[in-house]
Amino acid sequence: MSLCKRRGFIFQSSEIYGGLNGAWDYGPLGVELKRNLKNYWWRVMVQERDDVVGMDGSILTHPAVLRASGHLEGFSDPMVDSLLTGKRFRANQLEPQQGWVFNFIGAVDFDSFSNLIKEQNLPERSAIWSRVDLAPLLRQVFINSSCHIDDRRRTGYCHLPNHFEEQKELLRGLIAQRIFSASSLQPFSAMEIGSDRNVVRMSDGRHFNPAIVVAQEFYKKRDIRNPVVIMTNPQWIEHSTRYDPENGSLLTPPREFNLMFKTRTGPVEISEESLMTVSAAGATGPAAPLVTTNPRESSALTAGMSVTPEYTSTAGTTDEASVAYLRPETAQSIFVQFKNILEVSRKKLPFGIAQIGKAFRNEINPRNFTFRSREFEQMELEYFCRPEQGMELLEYWKEERLKFYENIGIRRANLHVRDVPDEERAFYSKGTYDIEYDFPFGRQELEGVAYRTDYDLKQHQHASDKSLEYFDDETKEKFIPHVVEPSAGVDRTVLALICEAYSEDQAPNDKGEMEARTVLRFHPRMAPIKCAIFPLLKNKEPLVVKAKEIVGLLRPHMTVFYDESGAIGRRYRRQDEIGTPFGITIDFETLGEKDPKLRDTVTLRERDSMKQERVKTSDLLQLLSMRIA
Ligand code: GAP
Repeated sequence: MSLCKRRGFIFQSSEIYGGLNGAWDYGPLGVELKRNLKNYWWRVMVQERDDVVGMDGSILTHPAVLRASGHLEGFSDPMVDSLLTGKRFRANQLEPQQGWVFNFIGAVDFDSFSNLIKEQNLPERSAIWSRVDLAPLLRQVFINSSCHIDDRRRTGYCHLPNHFEEQKELLRGLIAQRIFSASSLQPFSAMEIGSDRNVVRMSDGRHFNPAIVVAQEFYKKRDIRNPVVIMTNPQWIEHSTRYDPENGSLLTPPREFNLMFKTRTGPVEISEESLMTVSAAGATGPAAPLVTTNPRESSALTAGMSVTPEYTSTAGTTDEASVAYLRPETAQSIFVQFKNILEVSRKKLPFGIAQIGKAFRNEINPRNFTFRSREFEQMELEYFCRPEQGMELLEYWKEERLKFYENIGIRRANLHVRDVPDEERAFYSKGTYDIEYDFPFGRQELEGVAYRTDYDLKQHQHASDKSLEYFDDETKEKFIPHVVEPSAGVDRTVLALICEAYSEDQAPNDKGEMEARTVLRFHPRMAPIKCAIFPLLKNKEPLVVKAKEIVGLLRPHMTVFYDESGAIGRRYRRQDEIGTPFGITIDFETLGEKDPKLRDTVTLRERDSMKQERVKTSDLLQLLSMRIA
């Protein structure tokens, strides 16, 4: 990650403002790498095939499309929130925990509580303990309780013995009598994660049990500034996923959280800025009392601004017709355009429609660098076929896709095919496998290949009431085609390319001493820069002129980088670190100064082996073009 940032592959999005979680920006080298990957995918999946055509659909998607596809109803993850921090977790990704669970029935403020405790011994002088209606209640609640007050931190706990339901009711009565200046009866619990089953402690004399501290924080956030928490007997609990793994706080019950980004199209919202502009420009008269139910407009008016009535009438509408979604996968626009593309391309089954483009998912926990992002790119092929060809084609794409990854430099040994078991597979899929890669953070999915049957086209045909059938000229049959879908992630593959390429070895420096070198061993096809060109010395004009001639020769055909500064070894090292596979040095031999036979030859250095060969300038273009193809 640090190399990616330092050399301009990938930066955090909006970094100077603290970063936007789950979004990444590709820098000058990252964008070249990404384009090389997408171009190669397009070349082998579309341009070199007779049976595939491409398309480029819109990101904004009609809700009807996503209703029919099932995304509106079902594209969700169960999620839970920490009651203490609000941090969100995917319920099905929580590791089961064990430990002592402390249950709290509420909290009261420190000052009222500590006064109560102190005055208990001199009831006749206490305004509360001297009250005959309250004193017996107080005794009933706190009798046999053990309390610990920390005067310095102005907090504490009170542990009630059993029958707490009864005591809770009594406490409620006391609260109603306004004995405490602040109180809460909101129940809460916290786990002392991983505690020892045989020992349960409220405090070690100096510090409260972590679960009690969490409860104190919980009530502080609920407006009891200095809480004394009221708790009952702790319980031992195992295999629980109800507590925050980071601090032990209780989590909310799981709720389904739709992963799609919803947006609105058209002039649906009035911005503060436009209100200001209208007002500042004096386009409207003095603020007239305008009847409005839109809170944004109301606040603008109270702030002394006014809006034109026409503007008000369109602003802030919650018209459902304006709702659109950012697509969660590129696939749906392929299904929706199936009939149009079938007609214009005049393809016969089996044939495919391919697309590369952005997709958006409001992932609960974006993580592992770009691996799980909220905005990412997909390379998807929908390969339509007759129903009886589905399973066979699912198998066919396995080898094709594995070959693809090998051809971009990912070793087969680091790739794995995982058959997705029935219980994990979408209900409409007759077979799915994932192509996984051994990332440094574990074996994870790069691409999913699914036999989706005729589910998608059938759904869209039904919902749109437009025929999405295929007519077979030969058999005169009409039917909805089935589909096999290889769906790969651009960003994940870029990450895999970087992980696969990263290595450290030893290389000689300018003095011939061995030193550590970082090298990205990208396949030349993927490397952001194909060739670096160095004049041996920058102050020898004929060398510089010759080097620039070679730049001019190669630049129309590949990405090149000209570098004349620093020792030649250092220049090589800088290119090794960004994965440039070839380096060309223009030296005195090139000028024919040492040996006329070597005139117009250069040194060509290969990044991985560091081997150097003498090559004629006139052969350079052909030789390099072959090696990077
Ligand atoms: N049309 C099928 C589909 O979208 P998917 O398994 O949800 O299937 C396909 O996504 C690929 O898209 C994944 O294998 C992965 O490479 C990429 N992908 C999915 N979610 C992603 C995310 N949050 N961040 C980066 N890539 C993601």
